[in-house]
Amino acid sequence: MKNVANPKAAFYTLGCKVNQNETEALGALFKEHAYQVVDFDEVADVYIINTCTVTHLGDRKSRQVIRRAINTNPEALIVVTGCYAQTSPGELEQISGVDLIVGTRDRARIVDLIQEHKKGKKPVTHVSNILTVSDFEELPVDRLINRTRAFLKVQEGCEQFCTYCIIPYARGPSRSRSIENTLLEANKLTAAGFKEIILTGIHLGAYGKDLPNKVDLVYLCKQLLEQTNIERLRLGSIEPTEIVDELISLMKENPRFCRDLHIPLQNGDDEILKQMHRPYTTKDFRDIVKKIRDKIPDIGISSDIMVGFPGEEQNNFASSLSFVKEIGFMGLHVFKYSPRKGTPASKFPAQVSSQEKEKRSKAMLELAEQGFKSFATNYLGETLDVLVETAWPQGGWEGHTDNNLRVVFSGEGEKGIIVPIKLKALEKNYVQGEPNYSRN
Ligand code: 5AD
Repeated sequence: MKNVANPKAAFYTLGCKVNQNETEALGALFKEHAYQVVDFDEVADVYIINTCTVTHLGDRKSRQVIRRAINTNPEALIVVTGCYAQTSPGELEQISGVDLIVGTRDRARIVDLIQEHKKGKKPVTHVSNILTVSDFEELPVDRLINRTRAFLKVQEGCEQFCTYCIIPYARGPSRSRSIENTLLEANKLTAAGFKEIILTGIHLGAYGKDLPNKVDLVYLCKQLLEQTNIERLRLGSIEPTEIVDELISLMKENPRFCRDLHIPLQNGDDEILKQMHRPYTTKDFRDIVKKIRDKIPDIGISSDIMVGFPGEEQNNFASSLSFVKEIGFMGLHVFKYSPRKGTPASKFPAQVSSQEKEKRSKAMLELAEQGFKSFATNYLGETLDVLVETAWPQGGWEGHTDNNLRVVFSGEGEKGIIVPIKLKALEKNYVQGEPNYSRN
């Protein structure tokens, strides 16, 4: 029985997988402090909104969600954290009803900060200079139950300073979780029943650069595969220049290492890549994808693409489109360029109009759909292992194959088991199938 006197906390996450991991970790922390975690639409005593600022839409959605919480319970303590809180605390202080602003640091102390704070005072901003931080803040996530996939943050921050990107200013320099702590955490997750670990980071490929003994991401993955019983290990986003031969071999040889790579291309035109300060050309990208596919034919490769970067003329966009088509990604996130204050590109001339960005985004999204379809079609009639992640409210189950196909099936299922599914029909962004234990 739950103690009804326990204060209630409700969470909302905007943005990336790192944010999702951090919110989960914060939820666990609140539970440890005797809070009851409730749905965001319920009346709670504390609302924690983990914000995103990667584009202006992140800012806008973050503000909308904050207002929603204030409307649900004007008496509640409203706590705003994450990237938008880190970069623009002043904008958040303007929202009447916001009580506490905590950036991307000191979140292990968030419960104490809340307990020190009383509703009704002026908003308190607890945001420190992130650019000088060198420690990796540990936030354990293993207490969560009834989950199948866990995002495990092993790296924080980024020092690439791509000309469009605000994230280095929101997250600070690159720093890594130690191998020992990552293994401890992964073993706890496995013991708690998780079947899949997805390694995440702001710049995952920079893993280990700040650690002693020259460890890197490949070493970390090897250790995780050897020293834990996790059934599946998956990588978050990784830069094209960081996909080394050893990583490809490990993925090819170890069936527990999911054949799935998210490689952000950002643009398919060399001139634009240069303006973005991306450290590769389309030729480099084509070569690395070819090398990966030659070794691992079934690999699922997805990407992020930006349209409407300043200076992207019709001819640049045309080459971007044709390059994306040539590569053929099984998944594509399309971003309309959004000028971020303080970044070099926001001051570049030749900004692209929003109508034009909209048009280009639509064209790119069509390629996204085509890319998914042509990849998924290869597997119709085949039987692949699917990790069951969620029950559909209208009946049926949903999960992913190791090469990241989203699969829905009806029949016998159970969260957290791996089921052989014969793939039967394509939907817009998933594949329908049915259990096939005889694998015929
Ligand atoms: N405008 C639009 N998209 C952006 N991204 C990063 N910065 C911006 C920006 N200023 C996108 C990139 C990145 C993804 C997480 O967000 O494509 O890979």
